[in-house]
Amino acid sequence: MTRLLRGLHPLRRVLTGRFVVPVALSALVGTGALTFVLLDGQAQGGASGGPGGANGILVALDQAGTGAPQNPTPPKQPKNTGTSNASVRIYRHGRLVAYGNSAILYEYPPQSYIPAGQALFETFCSSCHGTDASGTSRAPNLVGLGPATVDFWVTTGRMPAENPNAVQAPRKPAKLTDKQALEIAAWVNSLDPSEPAIPHVNLKHANLSDGFNLFSLNCAACHTITGAGDALAYGTYAPSLRSATPTQVAEAIRTGPGNMPRFTGNLTDKQVRDLVAYVTEKIQHPSNPGGFALGGVGPVAEGFVALLFGVGVLTLVAYWIGERA
Ligand code: HEC
Ligand code: HEC
Repeated sequence: MTRLLRGLHPLRRVLTGRFVVPVALSALVGTGALTFVLLDGQAQGGASGGPGGANGILVALDQAGTGAPQNPTPPKQPKNTGTSNASVRIYRHGRLVAYGNSAILYEYPPQSYIPAGQALFETFCSSCHGTDASGTSRAPNLVGLGPATVDFWVTTGRMPAENPNAVQAPRKPAKLTDKQALEIAAWVNSLDPSEPAIPHVNLKHANLSDGFNLFSLNCAACHTITGAGDALAYGTYAPSLRSATPTQVAEAIRTGPGNMPRFTGNLTDKQVRDLVAYVTEKIQHPSNPGGFALGGVGPVAEGFVALLFGVGVLTLVAYWIGERA
């Protein structure tokens, strides 16, 4: 050990100079501050990038002729973008029961579910949304919403809400079963038949690299590239994507819950399928090559955390050598 220290002699001279402690300390504090700024910058970037990104997307949506009710003559929806203008349409007794293509099949809940749905709505929903679902001062009108919207809010546990004054209804364990959600969706849809129906995503031939590109372009600004979620403006947030099922991811994309934009004409069903595959296969099951994930905040932050600890250890070594001298 002493031989090793003697080998370090020139270094020791530098390290034991009277500037060592202040310099080492300022390096430690400086790196710490830098790490903090970078980590914080990342969070801020996500937050401020969110609404900005959303505006960009909303503009794109408007150009595609959707989501702009003030437009007097909206151009026709492109084919296979979540509406019944799809390459496959399935009728039973003259009624459209499903539509879609090989990537996504959108299915209406059966008519026979309507009476049970009305009873459930009366019990669990009418106190806020009104017995005819047209809304009250406590909650919005639901008439004219497609089955996918109702199914999303009920199966993700957002509805029935616990606190109607919350800025945003949180995801929580579902109070009603999947079948009950479909029954309510069937009844609401019977009041004013609408789209989209419930998406069943066929993930078999999904392209994960296309999914990744689409995700970085359309979703990462709000949900972050790892899907961990992030704060948006005014106390709202883009939630983590770790719990959503394939149907819920497709429903979110096609219906735009809360402050999320609705992606319709600008994403084909094939693209939605690739996105769903990327979220449910890659984001929900990240492959970790080893080491600590540090919450998966990203390689830059992880590098700086390493540097922070590294400089800390160096400082301790400098103290130790200084003391020995
Ligand atoms: C305690 C009051 C309350 C109850 C009970 C309730 N809701 Fe809601 N609901 C709300 C509020 C408030 C919102 C708006 C929340 C938001 O935007 O985050 C909402 C939003 C929704 C939305 C989204 C509307 C849209 O335009 O996107 C749906 C769908 C919905 N509720 C369905 C239901 C169903 C179905 C039930 C019964 C199972 C239910 N709600 C029970 C208060 C309630
Ligand atoms: C402008 C920001 C924004 C963008 C862009 C955005 N989202 Fe969202 N997303 C949100 C918000 C906000 C919510 C929660 C809405 C609520 O609960 O009121 C949400 C909810 C979700 C949910 C529901 C999660 C759960 O577990 O309940 C999924 C899934 C989702 N988004 C997927 C996506 C995908 C995929 C994309 C890209 C195609 C995307 N989002 C783009 C803001 C965004």
